[in-house]
Amino acid sequence: MEGAGPRMAVPSWLSDAVLYQIYPQSFADSNGDGIGDLRGITEHLDYLAWLGVTAVWLNPCFVSPMRDAGYDVADYLAIAPRYGDEHDVAKLAEQAGARGIRLLLDLVPGHTSDTHPWFMASADDPADHRYIWADPGPDGALPEGFVRSPGTRPGGYRPNFFDFQPALNFGYARPQADEPWRQDVTAEGPQANRAALRTIMDRWLRLGVSGFRVDMAYSLVKDDPDRAETSRLWREVRGWLDQTDPDAVLLSEWGDPAVAVPAGFSADFFLHFGGPTNGRALRSLWSNGVSTEYPEWANERCYFDAAGRGTAGTFLAAYQDALAAIGEPGRIVLPTANHDFARLQAGPRTPEQLPPAFAFLLTFPTLPAIYYGDEIGMRDVPGLPDTEGSVMRSGYNRAGTRTPMQWDSTPNAGFSAAPAARLYLPIDPDQARPTIAGQRASQDSLLNTVRDLIALRGAHPELGHSGSLEVLSDGYPLVYLRGGRFLVAVNPSDSTRVLTHDRPALAEATAVRQTGVTLDRATVTAGPFSYGIFQL
Ligand code: NOJ
Ligand code: CA
Repeated sequence: MEGAGPRMAVPSWLSDAVLYQIYPQSFADSNGDGIGDLRGITEHLDYLAWLGVTAVWLNPCFVSPMRDAGYDVADYLAIAPRYGDEHDVAKLAEQAGARGIRLLLDLVPGHTSDTHPWFMASADDPADHRYIWADPGPDGALPEGFVRSPGTRPGGYRPNFFDFQPALNFGYARPQADEPWRQDVTAEGPQANRAALRTIMDRWLRLGVSGFRVDMAYSLVKDDPDRAETSRLWREVRGWLDQTDPDAVLLSEWGDPAVAVPAGFSADFFLHFGGPTNGRALRSLWSNGVSTEYPEWANERCYFDAAGRGTAGTFLAAYQDALAAIGEPGRIVLPTANHDFARLQAGPRTPEQLPPAFAFLLTFPTLPAIYYGDEIGMRDVPGLPDTEGSVMRSGYNRAGTRTPMQWDSTPNAGFSAAPAARLYLPIDPDQARPTIAGQRASQDSLLNTVRDLIALRGAHPELGHSGSLEVLSDGYPLVYLRGGRFLVAVNPSDSTRVLTHDRPALAEATAVRQTGVTLDRATVTAGPFSYGIFQL
């Protein structure tokens, strides 16, 4: 690929990482205003260290009118007062670092809020090209998808997601003289925006941050077939970082590792949408038939299905495709969920299915990412109000996956001292809701299981990104060998499943951790909702 050059090595801290995503609004409220904040996260670092995660990424915490929960940035260089200030970022990074945990922030490069001073200036100045502006046609009409100017400038701008998120202008891959808003990527506006990215990243890296999750990373250059110009842009960014901060990482929200990694990203997320393999990969694993985002997903089956109607083959094929393109499994992030899509514990799924899911997540070569609360099986809460733009155009409400962390059995589940009515989102009203404190105290809880699995992955490199993978079965049970030394069997279904094999030596393997899996000379027998990790 032109300009790709030798691919940057990923720092080992990332390849070996167990990532943890914190939605800052909902993690821990240190000052009783009902909204989670940076200090709240700092106060819970001992918990994260106990759990064993090694890198944390925070959703945006910058100044914003919060019409899309902070993905509508009004000042990239300042922390939203409700979360704290830059000193709190520095302190969080420093205290996390002291516990071996890296801090990543969320970079939103593709659009700003329509209240950002850059946009407001642009809306009054026809010579300003930081955004994508089109003049009205002779009949007053705007090009399709454009939104009318809120300022004195005539015409309209191109939004990137919601209408109040004007796209920053990084140019078009195919400029066209008769459509003057399609500027070349080398034009002044697009180049000014590239320079701004550097200023923004630099500001937070200097405060001790280790990199960024990059929102809608694929969206920068418009009308960009194969994302060639967008990729060129990110390789330029990576080039800057290599000069000043070679250890800093960029994790893309792209949805196609086969394209995003060659574009310079340290790693890319398997998501519910994205390139040819990506959506298929994640949904076929644990969302189809469980999440309610889109009706068509409800009719597809996923592998982590109690009735055992799915196959792991779809995920494995997508994984192999991505791997063939990039060569390194540690550059594909596999999340349990995120702030946009349903939690693992959603819809018809029952808690018994979660231990096998985490056993898979933490013994597969991909980079594991745990969404806060999934480690105790917090559920996707139905019936919540639209909060800070949580409802998508499709009508799907993301609030269910964003409710406050359930720490203990004190009021507001220990999340906040505010009156319940002032909380960012209500606590899950289920009286039987799981809590961190409750599960810490119980040796066979999901939380202690997840903690032990993280420790096991850390203790045995064969279970991480560097160990080989040989799949013996992609049905029920799913059975694979890691590094030629560990056998993993997973059965998320509600019935006993048996794999017949021709490797008598497996009978000699010793259980490292198992819940209802037995091996003999010709079979792997996996009871309902079981998993097993065996050493050969
Ligand atoms: C993806 C983010 O994850 C989502 O929460 C946000 O609404 C859009 N990008 C727009 O920034
Ligand atoms: Ca607070």
